[in-house]
Amino acid sequence: MKALLLESPGKAQLREVASPEPGRGEILVRVTACGVCHTDLHYLDHGVPTFKSPVILGHEVSGTVAGCGAEVEKFREGDRVLLPAVFTCGACRMCRTGRENICQQMKMLGNHLDGGFAEYVVAPAKDCFALPAEIPLAEGCLIGDALTTPYHAVKHRARVQLGDVVAVFGCGGVGMNAVQFAALAGAHVIAVDIDDHKLELARRFGARDTLNVRAVERPEKELKKRTGGGVDIALEAIGKPETIRLAYDSVRVGGRLCVVGYSAEPVTLPFSKMMFYELEVVGSLGCRPADYPEVIELVRSGRVALGPLVTARYPLEKIHEGFDALRAGQGLRSIVLPGKAA
Ligand code: APR
Ligand code: ZN
Repeated sequence: MKALLLESPGKAQLREVASPEPGRGEILVRVTACGVCHTDLHYLDHGVPTFKSPVILGHEVSGTVAGCGAEVEKFREGDRVLLPAVFTCGACRMCRTGRENICQQMKMLGNHLDGGFAEYVVAPAKDCFALPAEIPLAEGCLIGDALTTPYHAVKHRARVQLGDVVAVFGCGGVGMNAVQFAALAGAHVIAVDIDDHKLELARRFGARDTLNVRAVERPEKELKKRTGGGVDIALEAIGKPETIRLAYDSVRVGGRLCVVGYSAEPVTLPFSKMMFYELEVVGSLGCRPADYPEVIELVRSGRVALGPLVTARYPLEKIHEGFDALRAGQGLRSIVLPGKAA
């Protein structure tokens, strides 16, 4: 089969490789679509220490079951499936206390395990989800990360409530969905970005107000002015030290900062404000398995938009165009369709 193989940082190539075989408890999935995520770019450019090398990239996968290993009863050939981005051990303390998303033995597609930028991928059947017929199979791949990561962040970490004033910093693939989930939860959402087009789009996803940080000298002051003292919750979905700091500075007394963006750089925050204002700073990583059925149902019932998130589609042969578009900040999410010819 054809697959995008990452051989070393900066070197990812389309190769002909052997199709995987499903082992005990595993399904073989014919990939319909795999989302192109910022995390893939990080891996592509810098590699990560956990890498199995070489590895097939891609962790937002939907497809159809093409074969079942021994002892698989949950699925049959032809079933439409969504793969979670990570598989957790199920046995550690975090897994046993409902916090599987921070399982330290987790295995991620396109990182520890071969991922979805390929014609086929294997996955443990017990961790995969059936996709209802109302959800288009290709677009459905985005539920695997672009939707579930901000869902977990908004619901369980930022703990957004009806009536909260929430600023979402960064309206890319992750942030835009934080906007739509926070709006759905009944918050007054202020979308913050440097791109007017993304901000305009954010209004369509439920933002009531927008701020282009480049249009004002002191964005945190502007946000405090507009909200009468600061936002209840700031959700950072960019991953730059300066925007994490900006988000922190925009929070009101008693407020909360939820960091979803990944920054390799250390970030300096004045902790006196945390103490005097009783601020909370929380991180958020991925989602828990229990989040998937909830998000699938929100999409199925039309309460959450999925189609408009897909702004480009590429055959596997043109995947690098998708990476380039993401680097250039174009669009929201691209999906790669390995079954389609170039
Ligand atoms: N101020 C405000 N907005 C910014 C800034 C800035 N200084 N720099 C970039 N942005 C905006 C971009 O215009 C874009 O809309 O942040 C958004 C980033 O979106 P994407 O590039 O689509 O990234 P995404 O896939 O959403 O991931 C965001 O979350 O999970 C993490 O690793 C991921 O750190 C990354 C973050
Ligand atoms: Zn675990």
